[in-house]
Amino acid sequence: MTQHSNIPVAIGSDHAGFPLKESLVEDLRAEGYHIEDFGVFSTESMDYPDIAREVAEAVASGRFQKAIIVCGTGIGVCITANKVKGVRAAVCSEAFSARMARQHNNANVICVGARVVGAGLALDIVKTFIETEFEAGSRHERRVDKINALDNC
Ligand code: RB5
Repeated sequence: MTQHSNIPVAIGSDHAGFPLKESLVEDLRAEGYHIEDFGVFSTESMDYPDIAREVAEAVASGRFQKAIIVCGTGIGVCITANKVKGVRAAVCSEAFSARMARQHNNANVICVGARVVGAGLALDIVKTFIETEFEAGSRHERRVDKINALDNC
C-alpha cells in the first residue's frame, strides 16, 4: 500500500458515466487509493448537474482535496462543477492535459467523458491527476489567484 492510499478522493457520475465510474472505483481501490463513491449506482437516467454539484460541494467544503466526475462527455459535469465557489474543474481526455491541469491550473476536480475515452486511458488520466502536484509559488500561482478572485465577482 503506497502513500496515495491515505488521500481520500471523491468520485461521482451520471447514468452515462456509471459504467466507467464503476471501473475506475474498482481499479483505483485495487491500487490502494482511498475512493469515496458518491454514486450514481445504476444506468437509470438522471440529471448530471445534481451529481456534479454534490461532488463539487464536497471539494469546496474542504472534505476532499480532489474529485473525479464522469458523464457522457465530461463537459456537462465540468460546466456545473465550475459554478461552485472554490472549484477548478478540467475536462481531460489524455494524461498530458491532466498533468497540466494540476501543475499549471491547480485543478481540484477532473471530469472525464465515458463516451470519449476507454477504461484504460481514463485510469491513466485520473491517476496522473491525483499524483501530480501544483507548481506552487510560481507564475502559475499568481494566475490561479486571478481565477479564484472571480469567485467573489
Ligand atoms: C447524458 O445523455 C449526457 O448528456 C451527459 O452524460 C453528459 O455528456 C453531458 O454533458
